[in-house]
Amino acid sequence: MREHSGACKPLLGVSTSGTNVNYNRGYSHVYKVSIFFFAFFLLYFYISPMYIPHHHLFWEESTPGYLVYTSSCKISDMNPFDKAVRPYIRKKGPQRCPRFVIKVSNQILKYDETHPKYKKTSCCFREIHRDPQDPYKYNKNADWQIKFSPKCTTISKINGANMTSEFVKVECEELDEGKVIKTSNFQASVFPPEQHSNLTRLKLEYWQQEKFSGSPSEMIKEEVPGRPPSVLIVGIDSISRMHMYRSLPKTKLFLEENDFIEMKGYTKIGENTFPNIMGVLAGMELNKYPCYNGSKYKVDSCPLIWKNYSRSNYVTAFLEDSPGLAIFNYLKTGFVEQPTDYYLRTLAVAYHGKLDHSRGFQGCVGGMSQTDFMINYMRRFVERMGEQKVPYFLLSWFTSLAHDDFNALKPADTKYHDLLSDTVNDATYNGNNTIILFISDHGYRFGSFRETFLGYYEESLPFFYIRMPPALKLS
Ligand SMILES: *[C@@H]1O[C@H](CO)[C@@H](O)[C@H](O)[C@H]1NC(C)=O
Ligand SMILES: *[C@@H]1O[C@H](CO)[C@@H](O)[C@H](O)[C@H]1NC(C)=O
Ligand SMILES: *[C@@H]1O[C@H](CO)[C@@H](O)[C@H](O)[C@H]1NC(C)=O
Ligand SMILES: *[C@@H]1O[C@H](CO)[C@@H](O)[C@H](O)[C@H]1NC(C)=O
Ligand SMILES: *[C@@H]1O[C@H](CO)[C@@H](O)[C@H](O)[C@H]1NC(C)=O
Repeated sequence: MREHSGACKPLLGVSTSGTNVNYNRGYSHVYKVSIFFFAFFLLYFYISPMYIPHHHLFWEESTPGYLVYTSSCKISDMNPFDKAVRPYIRKKGPQRCPRFVIKVSNQILKYDETHPKYKKTSCCFREIHRDPQDPYKYNKNADWQIKFSPKCTTISKINGANMTSEFVKVECEELDEGKVIKTSNFQASVFPPEQHSNLTRLKLEYWQQEKFSGSPSEMIKEEVPGRPPSVLIVGIDSISRMHMYRSLPKTKLFLEENDFIEMKGYTKIGENTFPNIMGVLAGMELNKYPCYNGSKYKVDSCPLIWKNYSRSNYVTAFLEDSPGLAIFNYLKTGFVEQPTDYYLRTLAVAYHGKLDHSRGFQGCVGGMSQTDFMINYMRRFVERMGEQKVPYFLLSWFTSLAHDDFNALKPADTKYHDLLSDTVNDATYNGNNTIILFISDHGYRFGSFRETFLGYYEESLPFFYIRMPPALKLS
């Protein structure tokens, strides 16, 4: 197939750049364009918030029967509820997790007095820290190195205990008919930026200057410098657009009714998560990574877009659940130096424990599923930054939820709906000054559904929704 600027992979569509329809994995300019378009989209409104173009750059009338219909790219629209999907749909409940006797409130670890084992249990906590590695002499396990404080600090039944680190391992002893049963679990707290690190404190001080006191609407309308919008990315691994339609109906309706824009032609550019995220966050084409020399090497020097935000004094956060399946770590070295201000991986490595590094973690954390744990962490992070009025860039990536199970996303519909709806509607989340992205990287790559025609089609078309702050919208 001839390279043709603006042509797309002939995905059940008609290739206009040649007569022979070719189903090979061809990559062409439209993907590059869409990657840069995305990176551009993220930064565009930050860099030039005053400049709003008066023409529509990328709008097309939709053509019935097609997701994309341009002179050089046509992608058919398929039915997500086609009867070919039915054999793969099963009813599944959410993951059940036993309650945990220790809870966190305002950075204090406390006993849950309503827990059935409250009276018989006593606990202490150890701090968990990332163990810094030499950036020049490191091995493949560098992003797996953490340390626990030698001392286990008692959690008092009366006062609880102050968390002295953002992530802790809680060790408990339960007296049961004369025997002592030892258990351990984990908790996390989002420290405010003035406490979290020197860098987040300096970023906070930057935004506390007088000149940033204007509200975002004043910033747009009267050109008074105000705080630029935050960026919140909620990503779920391995979910096609059509699978999102099938599994998250409540969330989808909410998105449609609340100004989220759907990018129907968003197409994957590589096999698994890594190359697709490198496209989205670093604007890089498949296998062309001058910043990365292969699985034995770190990705630290890659131009991931959160670095640009960080240089502009945004507080950055990167949250992933299962550390073995993580974007930059699955069969790879990952980061030798911590990549973002807030980095949930330190805790995820602790709860993954001694399990094989190439495997997913499916257990519970702090008395809840990893998905709930991460959603809670994200909510607290967004609230904390709102309290301090610091713009942030947050990337969350939910990997273990539905990566291997066609039916596991559906029970999470309400969780994502509530997270997104609170972000938009609850003033403490400051959603009107946040660019919100709800995205995936590709569809199911394996399993029996993938072997069907629809499975083949869907795999390349992940879901993508974006909501711009109302004050920044083109009018
Ligand atoms: C936690 O810290 C605060 C202030 O730093 C202090 O007043 C309080 O007594 C501490 N609580 C415990 C349980 O140590
Ligand atoms: C943070 O700043 C303080 C004082 O400004 C300094 O003493 C300390 O070493 C810094 N910590 C780190 C980790 O750089
Ligand atoms: C990758 O390897 C080449 C050749 O050894 C070296 O010049 C380059 O600096 C390396 N790049 C990174 C990002 O480590
Ligand atoms: C991010 O920063 C790098 C280094 O300054 C720059 O080359 C790149 O163009 C920036 N990316 C965007 C999208 O502005
Ligand atoms: C967001 O802005 C819209 C209109 O621009 C307004 O109706 C809505 O109340 C705002 N939401 C919050 C939570 O402030």
